[in-house]
This record gives sequence, structure tokens and C-alpha cells, in this order.
Amino acid sequence: MSERFLLVKQSQPLHGTVELTGAKNAVLVIIASLLLAEGKSTLYSVPNSADVRCFIALMTELGALVHFDVKLKALTIDTTMVNSIEVSPEIMNKMRASILVMGPLLARFGKARVALPGGCLIGARPINYHLQGFRKLGVSLIEDKPFLSASISTDSSNPIHDRVILEYPSVGATENLLMYATLKPGETVIVNAALEPEVLDLIDILNKMGAKIYCEPGQLIRIIGVNKLNPVEHTVIPDRLEAGALLLAACITKGSVHLPNARADHMDLFLEKLREMGHEVYVGTHQTPLFPLLGISLKACQNPQGVSIKTGPYPGFPTDLQAPLMTAMALSKDISTVEETVFENRLMHVKELTKLGAQITVEGQKATIRGVEKLYGTELIATDIRASCGLALAGLIAIGETKIGGVHHWERGYDKLEEKLRFMGGNINLIEASNIDNLMLPNGELLKKRIA
Ligand code: EPZ
Repeated sequence: MSERFLLVKQSQPLHGTVELTGAKNAVLVIIASLLLAEGKSTLYSVPNSADVRCFIALMTELGALVHFDVKLKALTIDTTMVNSIEVSPEIMNKMRASILVMGPLLARFGKARVALPGGCLIGARPINYHLQGFRKLGVSLIEDKPFLSASISTDSSNPIHDRVILEYPSVGATENLLMYATLKPGETVIVNAALEPEVLDLIDILNKMGAKIYCEPGQLIRIIGVNKLNPVEHTVIPDRLEAGALLLAACITKGSVHLPNARADHMDLFLEKLREMGHEVYVGTHQTPLFPLLGISLKACQNPQGVSIKTGPYPGFPTDLQAPLMTAMALSKDISTVEETVFENRLMHVKELTKLGAQITVEGQKATIRGVEKLYGTELIATDIRASCGLALAGLIAIGETKIGGVHHWERGYDKLEEKLRFMGGNINLIEASNIDNLMLPNGELLKKRIA
């Protein structure tokens, strides 16, 4: 049985200019949205990550014809022949985001049959906000485990004017309900909606397809139903989470990085926290008033200060950058604190960081980090996508070598991030060891000598 792990070795300061790929948390929902229009659409800047490949499998299972030009990062999807409305338990259990096809299937076919998504390590991850919203919009739901069958109740064809109130600005629930409402007769308003950059990218492509969606003050989204949506071409926004990982890699190794296509206006608070630590952060200027803040450059400071963060819905501090930032906090001066408010169990990387010598204590949803001078490489296990990033960054600075298991998380969330870190001078390799006894590393050394 082959063993797969990230092998990370203490590295020199990382330096480089890196192009970001499209955002994982935008591209998945955008692929689902293509079900709303019959015909061939093309997406550009699509990351070749495990989650994207899983979503391609899901679309193919539904009957779509898919071509992914990995080199050009271009994904073409023809939904003309889509003839199924069912998402299997296998696919749903592999990737929770599969629930995002429910809204488009209901809008296009009037029904959907989805396997109930499992929770995952960071929390129960229920879908009650999705279901409450669908019911409010006239969808009838019948549970026949492991499936949930949804259909538009017959008398809901006449225009209904609905207000759906989300108890929490759930990203997935906002996206699912929003996609359903694009083809629902009448007007739908989603109150307390999520407005993450990835949600706005979905709204952007839907409006290009012919939808009528308006964001209004007070986290309110208004959708006027239309009869038909059309296939389009669209470039996915750059991944702010990949940007965060690369910026923190430079911070932690006291190097520098330039991200020419990063959207600084998608990560204001994160960049402010890096500045608070003492790092020099420059952002691209507005070429025109509406032009986004394109480009981020960072020069790491030699003696970073501790900071405190509390995660929350956008534009608050992103929960998906909490684990990677905690690694930087572990090596900063004095005390830092992290309060996780989005997921109920997203501090499991603390145990792994303490194995490296980090000084972190947890009380409820709050972690207190006392900075240390050094970390020491050892064997670790990643517990979710973003924890895998935090641990990999720690390995770049830890003395000796760090071997990280649970690489499927890393591969789910990133498109060969280890290659970008290597390009910047990081000593990081994804190892597939059927028998590590005679496994050679790229430099010809025997691996077993290095991790004995
Ligand atoms: C999206 O997940 C992202 N995933 C997550 O990224 C991200 O962390 C999260 O939004 C928050 O920004 C994708 O876009 C594919 P939520 P989502 O619905 O939509 C609870 C990563 O690492 N909740 O905003 O599932 C939920 O359990 C991933 O890339 C309910 O209770 O997030 C969580 O505690 C991780 N009932 C909170 O709300 C519901 O019906 C926020 O969830 C829905 C959610």
C-alpha cells in the first residue's frame, strides 16, 4: 500500500513572483451554475485540484459533456444533454459542495434528488439553512435516506414574491437559493446573505448568463426571475486563499513575494493583520475608480509582532486563513490570539503545531499563542484543507524535516501549491512512496535516510 505525504525541509527565505489560479470556492459553485443554461460554456483560470476534478465527475454523472484543458486552465462544459437530477452518496460524501447542484437542478428540471452530505472534521456542516430557504420558496422536500427528494410544488408556478431570511450569512445557502431564484417567476429577496468575493463572482457570471440579480445595502440580494439563461465564457476570480498561503510563506521564512494578479480588495483585513505584524505590504493602485486593486507585494519583517484575530463572515477575517496565519503567529513575538466563530471544530491544527514546539493553549473556540524562536520538524497529520497549508508552511521554517500525512486535504484545496512554494525556494515535495526504503528524492538522496 503506497504511502503519500508532504515532505517539507527547513528552507532559505522564499522569494518570487507567482501567478494565482482561480478560486476553488468560486469555481465549484460556478460549475454548478452552468446547469441553469442549456449549451456550452467555458471557464478560464480553473485550478486543477481534486475538488474540481470531483465536480467534473459529478457534472458528467448528470449527463454533461466536459473537456478540461489543464494546461490552459480552460474548462468547457456542455449541459445540453443533462438528463439526471440525482447526486449519488459516493460523490456527496467525497465533496460536501455537491449540495450546490440542488438549486440549479430544481430551477431547470423542477426536481432534484441529492444524497444528504456528511459532516466533516471541522464540524457537523448541516444544510438546514438551505432547506429552510427552499421550503420558503415553495419547494417540497421529502427525506428518503440517504437521499433527499426536492420538487417544486405545482401551485408555485405563479409569481410569488418571497423574502428568505438567513439566520446566518451562510455562503452555500446563499449560493444555492440564489441560483434557484434566477429562474423562479417573480421576485426573491435573500436577507442576511453572504457576500464573500466568491458569491459575488457567482452573481457576476449569472448576470452574464442573463439573470437579474442586484446586491443591495444591508446584505440583501434581490433576484427577478427570468425565463431562460444562456451559456457564457467567464474567468474565475483569483484565489485569495492561495494568495494568503503564498504571502504567509514569505512572512514565515522572512522572504518576499509579488502576486501580480491578486485581488487585494478581496483580502483587506488579512493584509491589515500582516501590516500589524510589521510586514511591508504594497497593493496595486486603482487604474480607474471601478478597477479592482490588482496586485500585492510583501517584504517580510525580521521580528514580527503578535496579533489577534476573530474569524467571521466577509469582510471579517476569513476562517480559511486562520490556520495558516496561526503558524506565523507561533513564530511571532509575545502573545497572539485566534477566536474561531464560523466552524465549531476548526482548531485541530493546534495539536499538530504543538508537536513542532509551538506554545498554544485552547479554551473553547479561542486559542492563545505564545511566540517561540524555533520549531522542530516531526511527523504530522493534516485535519482539513487549510490546516494542511498551515502545517506545510510550518515545515518550511522548522529545523530538520516535517512529514505531513492527510495530503488528500492539500490536493482538494490547492492546484500544486507545493510547486509554487518550490519555485520560491521552498524545500517541499509531495511524496508517493510505494516502498519508501528505496525512494529517491529529486536530488538523488535516499528518502529513508532523511526521515529515519
Ligand atoms: C464555504 O463553505 C466554503 N466552501 C468554506 O471553505 C468556507 O470556510 C465557508 O464557506 C465559510 O466562508 C466552499 O465554498 C466550497 P457556510 P459553506 O454555509 O458554504 C453552518 C475551504 O477550506 N451552517 O457559510 O459550507 C456551517 O456548519 C472550505 O475551502 C449551518 O449550520 O459554509 C458553518 O458552521 C471550508 N447550516 C457555518 O454555518 C447550514 O445550512 C458557515 O457555513 C449551512 C451552514
